[in-house]
Amino acid sequence: MAATGKLRWGVLSTAGIARNHVIPAMKSGELTEVVAIASRDAARAAKAAMDLGIPRSYGSYEELLRDPEVDAVYNPLPNHLHAIWTIRALEAGKRVLVEKPAAMNAQETLDILAVQKRTGRIVLEGFMVRFHPQWEAVRTIVRSGRIGQVRAVQAIFTYFLTDPQNIRNRANLGGGGLYDIGCYAINTARYVFGAEPERVIGLFDMDPDLATDRLTSGLAEFPGHRQLAFTCATQLSPCQHVEILGTSGCISIALPFNPAADAETFICIDDGRDLSGGGRETIRFPAADQYKKQGDAFARAVFGNGPLVSDLSDSVKNMQVIDAFFRSQKSGQWEKPGGPDATNDRPLITATDEGKRSDNLAI
Ligand SMILES: NC(=O)c1ccc[n+]([C@@H]2O[C@H](COP(=O)([O-])OP(=O)(O)OC[C@H]3O[C@@H](n4cnc5c(N)ncnc54)[C@H](OP(=O)(O)O)[C@@H]3O)[C@@H](O)[C@H]2O)c1
Repeated sequence: MAATGKLRWGVLSTAGIARNHVIPAMKSGELTEVVAIASRDAARAAKAAMDLGIPRSYGSYEELLRDPEVDAVYNPLPNHLHAIWTIRALEAGKRVLVEKPAAMNAQETLDILAVQKRTGRIVLEGFMVRFHPQWEAVRTIVRSGRIGQVRAVQAIFTYFLTDPQNIRNRANLGGGGLYDIGCYAINTARYVFGAEPERVIGLFDMDPDLATDRLTSGLAEFPGHRQLAFTCATQLSPCQHVEILGTSGCISIALPFNPAADAETFICIDDGRDLSGGGRETIRFPAADQYKKQGDAFARAVFGNGPLVSDLSDSVKNMQVIDAFFRSQKSGQWEKPGGPDATNDRPLITATDEGKRSDNLAI
């Protein structure tokens, strides 16, 4: 580790999420610093390094992985490259924070898990929301029984984006609403229920030109007669909201997924005594940077000073649910997550097939 006692991060690519949120958060982290950034283009890497105050830049991802002074790698590549570069980073001895979704399907995530077990390095999928105090509070309230038996979660996450060059609108890179934002609804419902869904069914509206899902609604049934209902969309006005419904109250999360790092956020708990809010309590949370908290928690785990809220087996389960929704898209039926066929057959890399994997490295 660095003489500073901080975890030294290297960043694979000049991704927007890295430049705008995660790198500034890691630079201001209590236990993290950013020492290197790589790009497919050396000049782009050098400019990003200069703009962001990062000491070293590289014109290829391989070079960054060879840097002995990089302890951990942040992987915000397009979704189809998550598995391969996470595996490569692990093989190079690095720890990895890989952006959500961890891979294109459960099988690829299992491939990462196998390499993680062999190398003994930490891998975390970047569901930063789990590090925001509002979600920690929600789970504590749910577990306290204050809103009774929690039977339903309803989630909305939408934005409007039609640029065909954006990775979200490129099917062969892992674009589409379910991968990009539907994954949050699944992840947070599993977090709140502390359980896995037994069956799911989805309704998909595909963009005829982009071949990505632009409007997807899903139902998931959890054990104990509990349900998730969500809608995600890439071509609807931006909106996000989560309701958690119990037998004696409900929790509304006003900005569940992207609360600003520098602004207060809040949740409302309503005991339902009247419909005009007579039983409503608002809980406010001071500004919190969930990316910074995620980085510091990761570093604490590397230093052996704290557990992470999630591990890669949890990511496998999340991907199994996503796979089941894609199977449901084809079958038009309820599908069970997991099972022998835990992969979907969208146009994607086959993580166990070195040849196909190399094809997808044509970056
Ligand atoms: N947790 C969150 O809050 C959050 C928010 C947004 C996005 N994300 C996730 O972060 C990842 C990146 O999203 P983003 O919006 O930041 O994407 P982006 O701006 O398009 O960045 C992706 C980067 O990947 C590199 N790249 C390598 N191969 C590529 C290819 N074939 N096509 C395009 N780019 C390629 C490029 O960097 P170089 O050219 O420099 O190599 C590019 O800048 C996605 O997995 C997304 O789901 C997470």
